[in-house]
Amino acid sequence: MSSSKVVVITGVSRGLGRAMAEEFIQRGYIVAGCSRSKSAIADLTRQFGPPHGFCVVDVASDKDVKSWAEAILKSHGPPDLLVNNAAIINRNAPLWKVAAREFDEVIDINIKGVANVIRHFVPAMVERKAGVIVNFSSGWGRATDAEVAPYCATKWAIEGLTQALAQELPDGMAAVPVNPGIINTAMLRSCFGGSAFAYPTAEEWAKKAVPFLLQLGPRDNGQPLTVPG
Ligand SMILES: NC(=O)c1ccc[n+]([C@@H]2O[C@H](COP(=O)([O-])OP(=O)(O)OC[C@H]3O[C@@H](n4cnc5c(N)ncnc54)[C@H](OP(=O)(O)O)[C@@H]3O)[C@@H](O)[C@H]2O)c1
Repeated sequence: MSSSKVVVITGVSRGLGRAMAEEFIQRGYIVAGCSRSKSAIADLTRQFGPPHGFCVVDVASDKDVKSWAEAILKSHGPPDLLVNNAAIINRNAPLWKVAAREFDEVIDINIKGVANVIRHFVPAMVERKAGVIVNFSSGWGRATDAEVAPYCATKWAIEGLTQALAQELPDGMAAVPVNPGIINTAMLRSCFGGSAFAYPTAEEWAKKAVPFLLQLGPRDNGQPLTVPG
């Protein structure tokens, strides 16, 4: 078991997850990450070998998350920081034009995926009575816009789920819903189109976001926070 601090991040193949993984590693943390893209996971594994670990896991699968968590808890112990970052957004459309399958996928990943990760990682953190759980929310978890109703519904759910979880944790731990801000990633380009390019890159964002996440602690339990711009 390593004595360095362990950060678990979901959704590390691109965007904010990838940029955070690289920034945490640069700062000396051990990162365990997952995403569905086999090629991105192979690339991360080539770039960052042990003690870091990257696995192909779909967070929407409770079974796959269970196996992943068991392996990480065995090799690395309970995470000091667990970041539920993985999410998708619906293609821009009025709610009544979103097909049932697409709506289900957004719910399955953005809400049930977060619950799956919590179900399998948090008991070991609770047993140790230490660690911070960050669930990525959004500006659209506190306000709304047209054409992104399924995504808004999931991020409002994350705010509620995280605040309820915060009431269940023992002293010494924290669960925090964090709005990362507005960052030029594939997800932002999907909903903002070309205007996404006016916003910072994920790498620029991670330079501020990672120190912000690292200073979160029990005093922040249940507080809806935003990464400073
Ligand atoms: N960018 C912004 O301005 C912004 C604003 C507010 C909130 N956020 C939130 O920030 C987080 C990251 O967003 P982003 O902009 O970086 O999005 P992104 O560029 O689309 O990246 C999303 C990441 O999540 C992974 N992912 C998606 N579904 C998954 C699944 N079922 N299992 C495992 N991994 C999965 C993707 O990898 P695979 O496809 O390989 O699985 C990818 O690595 C999200 O929670 C998002 O809602 C972003």
